Amino acid sequence: MDDKPPPEPDLDSDAPAAGRMAASRAHAQLEVVILAAGRGSRMRSRTPKVLHALCGQPMLQWVLDAARALSAAPPLVVVAPGADAVTAQFAGRARFCCQAQPRGTGDAVAQAQGRLADTTRQVLVLCGDMPLLPVATLRALIRRQAERTQGGVALLTTDRPASQGFGRIVRDERGGFRAIVEEKLCTPAQRTLTELNAGAYVFEPGWLFQAAARLAVQADGERYVTDLPRLAREDGLAVETCAAAPEDVLGVNTRAELALATAALRRRINAAHMDAGVSFTDPQAAYVDAGVRIGPDTLIAPGTMLTGRTHIDEGCEIGPAAHLHDCRIGAECRIRYAVMEGTAVGPGCRIGPFARLRAGARLEARVYMGSFGEVKNSALGTDAHMGHFSYVGDADVGAGVNVGAGTITCNFDGQRKHRTVIEDEAFLGSGTKLVAPLRVGPRARTGAGAVVTRDVPADALVYGVPAKPAPDPGARAREAEEAVSAS
Ligand code: UD1
Ligand code: CA
Repeated sequence: MDDKPPPEPDLDSDAPAAGRMAASRAHAQLEVVILAAGRGSRMRSRTPKVLHALCGQPMLQWVLDAARALSAAPPLVVVAPGADAVTAQFAGRARFCCQAQPRGTGDAVAQAQGRLADTTRQVLVLCGDMPLLPVATLRALIRRQAERTQGGVALLTTDRPASQGFGRIVRDERGGFRAIVEEKLCTPAQRTLTELNAGAYVFEPGWLFQAAARLAVQADGERYVTDLPRLAREDGLAVETCAAAPEDVLGVNTRAELALATAALRRRINAAHMDAGVSFTDPQAAYVDAGVRIGPDTLIAPGTMLTGRTHIDEGCEIGPAAHLHDCRIGAECRIRYAVMEGTAVGPGCRIGPFARLRAGARLEARVYMGSFGEVKNSALGTDAHMGHFSYVGDADVGAGVNVGAGTITCNFDGQRKHRTVIEDEAFLGSGTKLVAPLRVGPRARTGAGAVVTRDVPADALVYGVPAKPAPDPGARAREAEEAVSAS
């Protein structure tokens, strides 16, 4: 194991690539339109539906990631008026247009008219509430429209009995596509159909926008994108379907569906880590965000949450019950029952059980941090040893320092925080209170229970309340010798 310093937390956000997006737009043959202007009322939330997070990433981000893998042009997202939270969060990663009133998915698609490049030959329409769509499935759909429909429509379907909330695919006697019938408009016989409309479509743009203008207004005052394939058939165009796995086309309309989709994404994330050499005691009991990186031969024990941009190097044991947010962990660390955020940890550290590391904590190689310790905005040097029940805040702790059990940095005077510096190889007795600002010199020692209010020079021993230098035993011996020789 080497003594290289802990990696720095790497928390830069994705820089928007606006220039690249503008340049690529003119060449795009395929553009993606994402519908996200619905009320999302079934979520019963003040937060727009597409901003709800799944595995640490907003719902819309999952859809945008798929779109970006398919088209160089930035996706066009249809949003409701006042969706500033959405446009602000995704500025630079998508373009936006507004649907003034939620008059249905057909009306939402129509808002893209005039917003696509003249060179665009295919428009992929997706819903913002489908975070599980695999890129390969969408590629197959795009190919199907291009190769089999001559400017017609291709749509994604799935087959699942007893599903609720999906439009049904109605076919003629020969199996040809006839129409999508929304569930609420189905006859009892149609409702039993198991072939469902997934909610992803590929259109030729010229036909799309003139057909969208012809969509009938339904009884609920909405125009449905789902009526477009039927219109295409009536116009004599080919309509083709591609089947997807039911899980892949889950639409998130409710909190229960949000939890289902999150569980599916979690399975995929953990499976990818296992493929890359990471072990899980129980992959169903580990919660790993999309942005997390884990090195091979690391074991993730149950009850562990790895969130934000946490990076863990190889050969670690994390958990049981560790929550690491935006942390960088070096190789071969062992972290049990811990809550850590914004923390950098060097290789070979032992943390917990029951440890709390707050923002700005930085542990060098092989630091030991015993039970019920807390570190905030402090650095602990190589081989530092921090006993149980200690608090180290706003401190610089050198290499090889022993922080005895129950040591506290008294960093707050009621108004301001002050720093404590403890130099290499210092030894703090149990229960030491360090009243900052304060410096403890190299190899200095404090007695158990010392309340240290003044700087301690190198190699000195202080003890008591308030701490005073201990009498120098060497000096006493010399005095005695002098007295003997004088007599
Ligand atoms: C829709 C389909 C249904 C399909 C299902 C798959 C329609 C009419 N129905 O139903 O056939 O089986 O998806 O999940 O399309 N939106 C707007 N503006 C609006 C209304 C909706 O932008 O005026 C957006 C929503 O934000 C959402 C998407 O369109 O992202 C789909 O709307 P939603 O209300 O969720 O449709 P579903 O009832 O799920
Ligand atoms: Ca939906």
